[in-house]
Amino acid sequence: MAQPVPRFSKKTKEEKIDWLLDTYFKGDANAKKVLNQYYNSNENLQQLHDDFIENAITNYYLPFGIAPNFLINQNLYTIPMVIEESSVVAAASNAAKFWLDRGGFTAEVISTTKNGQVHIDFYGTAELLTEFFEAIKPKLITSLDSLQKNMKNRGGGLLDIELLDATETLEGYYQLHCTFETLDAMGANFINSCLEQIAETFESEATTYEAFAKNKPKVVMSILSNYVPECLVRAEVACKVEDLDQKGIKGEKFAQDFVRAIHIAKSETRRAVTHNKGIMNGIDAVILATGNDFRAVEAGVHAYAARNGYYSSLTHAQVKDGVFRFWIEIPLALGTVGGLTSLHPLAKFALQLMQNPSARELMQLVAVAGLAQNFAAVRSLVTVGIQKGHMKMHLMNILNQQGASVKEKEKALSYFKEYAVSHTAVEQFLKEVRT
Ligand code: MEV
Repeated sequence: MAQPVPRFSKKTKEEKIDWLLDTYFKGDANAKKVLNQYYNSNENLQQLHDDFIENAITNYYLPFGIAPNFLINQNLYTIPMVIEESSVVAAASNAAKFWLDRGGFTAEVISTTKNGQVHIDFYGTAELLTEFFEAIKPKLITSLDSLQKNMKNRGGGLLDIELLDATETLEGYYQLHCTFETLDAMGANFINSCLEQIAETFESEATTYEAFAKNKPKVVMSILSNYVPECLVRAEVACKVEDLDQKGIKGEKFAQDFVRAIHIAKSETRRAVTHNKGIMNGIDAVILATGNDFRAVEAGVHAYAARNGYYSSLTHAQVKDGVFRFWIEIPLALGTVGGLTSLHPLAKFALQLMQNPSARELMQLVAVAGLAQNFAAVRSLVTVGIQKGHMKMHLMNILNQQGASVKEKEKALSYFKEYAVSHTAVEQFLKEVRT
């Protein structure tokens, strides 16, 4: 049984690995090899990755793929995607190609305001706290002068501070709700530093405010919010219904079935979650490729999907006056400077590949990736079903699991052009080829 390990983070990387192998992998000669084979022989690059987190013992690879032919606001893009799921890049490329022939995607940023809160406990009257807040608000703002000097020079910074009375939700609970413009930075560090400074000034002013003699407000915590419904982007595709004609399917029937599928995802939670998961396949893949924070995006996007009190589809579709329209509106707080975006060579590469977008442009590209992914998924679902394409892409994984040789893979790829892929079918195929 494993024992607690004291001062683990102080050990060297080699000591950490020795401890790990000794504690959990005794007798497994392969374990060290598995870790070693993912080291980068370039020592500087390896050190860079080791420095990203505490207790790094190796690297964890994911494929970096690209989806070309995305026509967005009349510019052609190739979108980088980091993801393990076999069919995602193929589906994105497919949707890009489909819309390339039908006018492409349009995208626009609706707003870019981010926010954070200083959470406060106060058991006096709301009037007293409001009076205090109004009196010290200018000091709260000027206390940020040095912190936001550079951001302000670039045109961003704190936008406003409001005192919110949340005592109906929770007894004694108030907020300093702060809004920010962080331009091309995701802004988490900037916002959190500002909030902590605001909290410090607020508390120090409160200590000398006479009217608080008995009952002083107390700061509970200060942190940005990953819910950013005022940092919104919209992406859309549209074409005449008859232009949706595809192999064996009339445009009118396709549009009808497609819109119905979207309406189901709007009205039913179980479907909505899977529907939105498909959207996030596209979004997360670009977020990861560009070194952005996919957990922040995930949390914010799903909260937005539930903003009306029930969880619903992030995409919308309609047919009106013979025109099919399909769109997404989502909150995305992204950065194209700072953080991993400039540190991780592949994140930098991904941004270069997209012609070094501003954060606003990246919001549009990411929203398009989500919309495209959803289009591809729903298109399959209402026509041939998802498994045909999915299993075709998964074929290589099954072949690798079965230890297939290069020759066997070639034969399998050709054979399964005609036949349905399943684990059993691939096993059977390999058995026959091998005998
Ligand atoms: C699979 O990763 C994503 C889908 O399930 C999305 C959907 O059902 O819309 C295909």
